[in-house]
Amino acid sequence: PVLVVDFGAQYAQLIARRVREARIYSEVIAHDAPIEGFRAKNPAALVLSGGPASVYAEGAATLNPAILELGIPVFGICYGFQAMAQALGGTVANTGGREFGRTTLTNSGGVLHDGLGQTQPVWMSHNDAVQVAPDGFTVTGSTPGAPVAAFENTATKMAGVQYHPEVLHSPHGQQVLTRFLYEIAGLAPTWTAANIAESLVASVREQVGEDGLAICGLSGGVDSAVAAALVQRAIGDRVTCVFVDQGLLRAGEREQVQTDFVAATGARLVTVDAADKVLAELAGHADPETKRKIVGREFIRSFEGAVSEVLGDNASSGRKVQYLVQGTLYPDVVESGGGSGTANIKSHHNVGGLPDDLEFTLVEPLRLLFKDEVRAVGRELGLPEEIVNRQPFPGPGLSIRIVGEVTRARLDLLRRADAIAREELTAAGLDGQIWQCPVVLLADVRSVGVQGDSRTYGHPIVLRPVSSEDAMTADWTRVPYEVLEAISTRITNEVPEVNRVVLDVTSKPPGTIEWE
Ligand code: XMP
Repeated sequence: PVLVVDFGAQYAQLIARRVREARIYSEVIAHDAPIEGFRAKNPAALVLSGGPASVYAEGAATLNPAILELGIPVFGICYGFQAMAQALGGTVANTGGREFGRTTLTNSGGVLHDGLGQTQPVWMSHNDAVQVAPDGFTVTGSTPGAPVAAFENTATKMAGVQYHPEVLHSPHGQQVLTRFLYEIAGLAPTWTAANIAESLVASVREQVGEDGLAICGLSGGVDSAVAAALVQRAIGDRVTCVFVDQGLLRAGEREQVQTDFVAATGARLVTVDAADKVLAELAGHADPETKRKIVGREFIRSFEGAVSEVLGDNASSGRKVQYLVQGTLYPDVVESGGGSGTANIKSHHNVGGLPDDLEFTLVEPLRLLFKDEVRAVGRELGLPEEIVNRQPFPGPGLSIRIVGEVTRARLDLLRRADAIAREELTAAGLDGQIWQCPVVLLADVRSVGVQGDSRTYGHPIVLRPVSSEDAMTADWTRVPYEVLEAISTRITNEVPEVNRVVLDVTSKPPGTIEWE
C-alpha cells in the first residue's frame, strides 16, 4: 500500500481517501510506529500528513528519519513537507509569513504542477515555512508566505507541498497528488472495484474456511448489505442473514431487504418482526437518549433471539455458527485507534454490546474500505441502486426523527412525508449533492393553519438536507426553491396531519445532522 503517515492532524484519513480516489490502495500509519511496522507493510510510497505542531515545538510529533531511508517514494504535505525538508538538510524557519486559508501559488515548472496554469489557488495552514530546499530538490512553487511552497527530486522520487492538496479548497490538489503517485512514484492504478471485490471474497473464504458457518445482521443500510453480499459470494448458504424489523424503517425499506437484496444475492434470510415489542417499550418516552437506549437494547435482544434460533437449527445438525459478519468501515477502524496506533477518537460499536457468551469470531470484510468504495463493491456484486445508493440512516431509525413520543400513527405519518421528500429530491436529480435528508416530525408542536375554509391545528415537518463528505461536519444543502415548494405543497396536501413544512438551515457544527 501507500502508507499515509499520521502526524496527528485530522487530515490523514482524508489523504488516504484521496490516494484511493487515484485508484491506489492506501492505509494510515502512526508517525511513531516502529520502523519494522513500516517495513512489514511493504509500502509502495509514503505520504507524510500535516500535523498540528511546529517542527520545533516541544513534544512535536517527529519524523523518524529512518523512514526516509526505506528507498521508496515520499510525498510530504504541510507539516510533513517541513519535517521532510528539515530531515533532508533544508531549513525551516518561522519568519512571520503565516498563511491560513486560500492563497495563490505561483508555479515554476516541474513534474507535480505540470499542466497547471501559471498560478493556482491553494489552501494553506502554516506558521513556519521552508526557507531552503534540501540539496537535489527543485523548487516548483511559491506563495507570498512560503518562498518554497513545493519541491521535488525526481531522482529520489521525493516531493512535497506546503499547501493541502487533499482539501477541496485546493481545486487542483487531487491532480497534483495523482501526478506524484503516477509520474514521480511510478505507481499504477490497480485499486478498482472488481479487484477489491475479488480479493475480499478470497480473504473471507480463507478466514471462514471450507465448512465454517456465519451469521450476519442486515440493517437495510449499504454497509451491512455489501458485507452480507460479499460473504454470501464467498461461502454461499453457509451464511444466514438476520434482519430485525423494529418498525422504525422508512417506507419500502423492508421490501428492499426482503425482495431486492435476496433477489440480487440469493442470500438466506431470517426476518424478525420486533415492531410490536419495540413500540410497546417506547411508549411514554420522549427523551432522545432513553429512546436510543431502548431501541439499542431491543435490537440486541431480537438479534440474540434469532441467533439462538439459527444456532438451534444448526445444533440439531451438529454444526456450530462461529462467525459474526459486521459491516465495519475503515473510518471506524481508524477512529477506534485500529491497529496502526492512530489516536482513539471514539470507540464504535456496530452490533455493540452483544453478550460475551456468544463467542463469535468477527468477519469484517469492509474494514479497509471507505464508503464510496463500499458502494462501488456493492455495484460490482450486483446489488440494486436503491440499496447501494441509500443515504446513511441512523440505527435507531425513525424513532429519533420524531421529536416526542413514538407511536404507530406518528411513524405512519412521518413515513408518508419522508417518502414524498425523497421522491421529489430524487426526481430533481439532487441525490448526488445531498449526503442525507432527515425528515423530522415535531410531534409535540402544533400550529394553526387554514385549509379550504377551515382552521387546522397540525404538526410541522422539518426538512434537513445536508451536504457532507463524512458526516463529521456538514452544511445545509441549498435545495432549489422550486423543489422545496414541490415538497411542501405535496406534504401539506397529501399528509392531512401536517400543515407546515420548515427548512433547517443550520450547519454542523453547531447542529448535528439528526435532531436527536
Ligand atoms: P449526527 O446527528 O451525530 O449524525 O450529526 C451523524 C451521522 O450518523 C448518523 N447517526 C447514526 N448512525 N447509529 C447509526 O448507525 C446511530 O445511533 C446514529 N445516530 C446518528 C446520522 O444519520 C448521520 O449520518
